[in-house]
Amino acid sequence: MDLSCTLRTALCRIKYFYKDGEKMRKEYGVVLVGCGHIGRQHIQDIYYKEQIHLIGVVDVDAERAQEFCSMYNADSWSVDYHDYLVRSDVNIVIVATYVNTHLSIVKDCLFNKKHVICEKPIGRTMQEGKEFANLVKASDCKVLVAHVLRHNRTYQKVAEVIQSGIIGNITLIRMVQNHHCKDWDRYKKLLTDCSPIVDCGVHYIDVMQWFTGTPVTKVSGFGSMIDRDLPEGVYNYGMINVQLQNGCIGYYEAGWSRNLASSNLKEFIGVKGRISIILNANRYKDIEEGDLIELYLNESNEYKTINCKSEYKNMWGQMKKLIEMIETNAPAVPTIDEVFSAFRVVMCADSEIRKKGFANIQESELLLK
Ligand SMILES: NC(=O)c1ccc[n+]([C@@H]2O[C@H](COP(=O)([O-])OP(=O)(O)OC[C@H]3O[C@@H](n4cnc5c(N)ncnc54)[C@H](O)[C@@H]3O)[C@@H](O)[C@H]2O)c1
Repeated sequence: MDLSCTLRTALCRIKYFYKDGEKMRKEYGVVLVGCGHIGRQHIQDIYYKEQIHLIGVVDVDAERAQEFCSMYNADSWSVDYHDYLVRSDVNIVIVATYVNTHLSIVKDCLFNKKHVICEKPIGRTMQEGKEFANLVKASDCKVLVAHVLRHNRTYQKVAEVIQSGIIGNITLIRMVQNHHCKDWDRYKKLLTDCSPIVDCGVHYIDVMQWFTGTPVTKVSGFGSMIDRDLPEGVYNYGMINVQLQNGCIGYYEAGWSRNLASSNLKEFIGVKGRISIILNANRYKDIEEGDLIELYLNESNEYKTINCKSEYKNMWGQMKKLIEMIETNAPAVPTIDEVFSAFRVVMCADSEIRKKGFANIQESELLLK
């Protein structure tokens, strides 16, 4: 089969959008697979955009698929995504199911020449993650793994401030993301495939590597079962400590529990000062100003604040990036190598923690995986 020809044919089927007789940007046929928590965030941010034609919504739970179909005005719904993959008017598939299905659904999408936004993480094992990355690299279609913090303006602003050098070289990164889980059944389902330090950790290890511009070279950590009714072999709290190539150290703590309090700490300490991110929802005052970036500069003993429009999950920004990748061949943000690099760090720690309760992985071992 001539794949490049098939791809060209698929791309030609993307309709142009006309306004006042003028040819505008293309309209993309989109299908959402997985009508759960994150599926809703994807769809509610994009379904009304003029470049988007929501062709279908899919969930194995028919009631959910039907609800999404009427709420977001999709053309149709289904419990099986396969039917949509053979349709020529479907250009983009959003995969928002559990991690145990990410690889197989993405494989089916790419085989049928569909572009994809796929939720993280890219697999349940290192092997699955490698297969996912290789598949993406070998495909003519575009795949964006949903590291949504890369498209969040607050995080983009912090990256810009750090990279301007104003707080000097970053020496310490402190990050905590604990969830007090009211919807315990949903979290228990997520825990069967993935521990919190993997599921959320891929975002934050990626942030550490993005902000400092260097890779993680050492990782250690531990995990604990802090609720008693967990699925077998599962831990629901973990902490990982990392060292980056430039000597910066960092930690990331993540737990999903009915007993933990929610906490959210994001702090970046450099030799000339520090930056903290306080999300809009965690501000004590001026909440209408959005997220707050606090900046301290030790040479001038100055405290500064920057308010950023709060867009915790900028799903439209993420979709716009995929469209840019399709139309201009722009690279993915993050690239699949960056996605895999963050995945490898958390998976190395996770596999040791599952075996022994703790992990201590040196550079040489990390690079081998
Ligand atoms: N990027 C982020 O910030 C972020 C946040 C939360 C969750 N996630 C990721 O999103 C994924 C889903 O998490 P969630 O919290 O939305 O879970 P969820 O339980 O709320 O939703 C998952 C949905 O997928 C459906 N589903 C499962 N297998 C399917 C299949 N084969 N075909 C069609 N539908 C199927 C389920 O019925 C469910 O409705 C996970 O990988 C998670 O790590 C990402």
